[in-house]
Amino acid sequence: MQFDPVKILITGADGQSGSAIARTAELDSFFEVIPLNRKQLDVTQPDKIVAALDRYLPDYVINCAGLNSADRAEREPHKAMLLNAEAAKNIAAACGDLSIPMIQLSTDYVFDGHYASGYTEVDETRPLGAYGESKLQGELNVQQFMPRHIIIRTSWLFSDRGNNFMLRTLEEARENNLMYGVDDRRGCPTSAFDLARVVIAVIKQLSCGAEAWGVYHYCGAEVTTRYGFCEAVIAAARQYEDLKVDEIKPVAAKDFVTEAERPSTSVLKCNKILNVFGIRQRPWRSELQRLIREYYGQVRY
Ligand SMILES: NC(=O)c1ccc[n+]([C@@H]2O[C@H](COP(=O)([O-])OP(=O)(O)OC[C@H]3O[C@@H](n4cnc5c(N)ncnc54)[C@H](OP(=O)(O)O)[C@@H]3O)[C@@H](O)[C@H]2O)c1
Repeated sequence: MQFDPVKILITGADGQSGSAIARTAELDSFFEVIPLNRKQLDVTQPDKIVAALDRYLPDYVINCAGLNSADRAEREPHKAMLLNAEAAKNIAAACGDLSIPMIQLSTDYVFDGHYASGYTEVDETRPLGAYGESKLQGELNVQQFMPRHIIIRTSWLFSDRGNNFMLRTLEEARENNLMYGVDDRRGCPTSAFDLARVVIAVIKQLSCGAEAWGVYHYCGAEVTTRYGFCEAVIAAARQYEDLKVDEIKPVAAKDFVTEAERPSTSVLKCNKILNVFGIRQRPWRSELQRLIREYYGQVRY
């Protein structure tokens, strides 16, 4: 049976999540993908957004653009608000006018990290810094301007591109004998490709008539710390490369000062996305093995 592909327009398409979603969806004949990077669509310019939607007439818009460094957001709070809140509003307003559903990515940093058992979608938000505040305001703007939205909060993204913990760990492990990893902050790493799988599964169900708008949590399965994740990255990479690092020391967050305060437990509970869409958490460790294998150009089946 012939069907028209579902057209998805992706903003910030050169970033970690944007490129992973674009590359994954491009392999699926269900979709026609319009990946737009910052040069092709600056999301801070409302007229450019309207023009892009008029031109491409997508079935869904996925907003992956943003300022995603918590430390940079502390230094440049106005820029964080512009990119994470104002831009989300611009996109939601344009989508609202044309009745195009919108997928917005958000973050565990909307929470203060004091719930040791983790957060559900209805738990109280209380960002600790400029990044979380700007992302929370972005969520509220999307909710106000485009009721047909899906907001997916995720955490600790890693992938084969961009500024992420996996790639930074590999660089450090090549250059240093000794590395440090914070061992008292808990969270769940999430492969950008696993997140792409989730976004695609959600859109497929929406396209088949599911009316399940709202906020969802998704992150990789298994809670760890930065220290634990660092160990896992190095162990996986050692299968392919003789790294310089010979010791990883666990440190307390209080001894590892950063510009932005970070939530101490940013575990996202993912029961809602399982109950509503049937999407199960995938273990981040298997995704890490796969990405490291690809990083070193090895293909094993
Ligand atoms: N990274 C994480 O660990 C993490 C964790 C939880 C949630 N999230 C959420 O996931 C989403 C995506 O994160 P990510 O890691 O994929 O981010 P990313 O790799 O930093 O990608 C963001 C993209 O946005 C683009 N961009 C910046 N300004 C723009 C503008 N004015 N117009 C259009 N595009 C612009 C950037 O382009 P340039 O590079 O050219 O500036 C970049 O390609 C965000 O909503 C974030 O809050 C991320």
